[in-house]
Amino acid sequence: MRILITGGAGFIGSHLCERLLSEGNEIICLDNFFTGRKANIVHLLDSKNFELVRHDVTEPVMFEVDQIYNLACPASPIHYQYNPVKTVKTSVMGMINMLGLAKRVKARILQASTSEVYGDPLIHPQTEDYFGNVNPIGLRSCYDEGKRVAETLMMDYHRQNSVDTRIVRIFNTYGERMMENDGRVVSNFIVQALRGEELTMYGDGSQTRSFCYVSDLVDGLIRLMNTEAENIHLPVNIGNPGEFTMNELAVEIGKAIGTEVKIKYLPLPQDDPKQRQPNIEKAKNLLSWSPKIPLAEGLERTVAYFRGIVRQ
Ligand SMILES: NC(=O)c1ccc[n+]([C@@H]2O[C@H](COP(=O)([O-])OP(=O)(O)OC[C@H]3O[C@@H](n4cnc5c(N)ncnc54)[C@H](O)[C@@H]3O)[C@@H](O)[C@H]2O)c1
Repeated sequence: MRILITGGAGFIGSHLCERLLSEGNEIICLDNFFTGRKANIVHLLDSKNFELVRHDVTEPVMFEVDQIYNLACPASPIHYQYNPVKTVKTSVMGMINMLGLAKRVKARILQASTSEVYGDPLIHPQTEDYFGNVNPIGLRSCYDEGKRVAETLMMDYHRQNSVDTRIVRIFNTYGERMMENDGRVVSNFIVQALRGEELTMYGDGSQTRSFCYVSDLVDGLIRLMNTEAENIHLPVNIGNPGEFTMNELAVEIGKAIGTEVKIKYLPLPQDDPKQRQPNIEKAKNLLSWSPKIPLAEGLERTVAYFRGIVRQ
């Protein structure tokens, strides 16, 4: 198949490019390099089945493809809040452009949505039928609401134009090729611990997150894209339900590095969700998918990657 991956030079996108290429597909990796890096996909450039295109999804584009994975959007708060108007444009105009393309060339399209559509959830764990508790005017809204509108567009193009759509709600994912300075908790803690610095903990560290290793996530994305079932166009959570407090995460990272970590506690930022855990029954039933890599193993691999790039 010929497959377009927007945001393909980013953290998750580069793993997806690698995996789909290794399965014999032709890959068009499209990226504006806002948070993506050529270094993430440089090892794929020699393949005759891999094409890299510098392009911004807010501008229309035309390719003959069979499938589109729409991942283009900065994912960490530091980056999506750097230019919030652009973040909304990327989610909304990017989605319209990709759906227009999917409609025109009759491609199946998968949208990388997010657990952030649940906001600061009032039910726990979060099932796909929960509408969420999102602040529409806060600092995180450019990302959360942008992604919510993108889901709306997916559903409307499906109902109105019969576009073949898939929506995945991705929960926190970690692994090799995360950026070392983007403020996401796993990379932040690992980089600080490797440098022997104190770990910056926002709040008292009792807030929880569930962390999915990137190879498990990529497996879920590919299964969702290639599954046919009634109502398969409705959102599906993909994440690892293993829930850890940030204090526990700090300890696990200390173990993976082989050091005792020290923690500096800072105030919690606005609208930071207190807990987040996916209910993945739907993914289990529809896709026969569940995560395989335990946190300790995923952290070990991620630490090995960061050891190679962080100056200690
Ligand atoms: N990593 C996670 O934990 C997580 C969780 C939920 C959802 N997601 C979603 O998954 C997708 C990938 O996330 P990631 O963690 O790999 O982030 P990332 O920032 O590493 O990747 C995003 C990629 O999109 C590119 N991009 C951004 N704006 C663009 C634009 N206007 N035009 C073209 N390319 C553009 C960036 O350069 C980058 O390569 C995002 O849509 C994100 O919202 C990620």
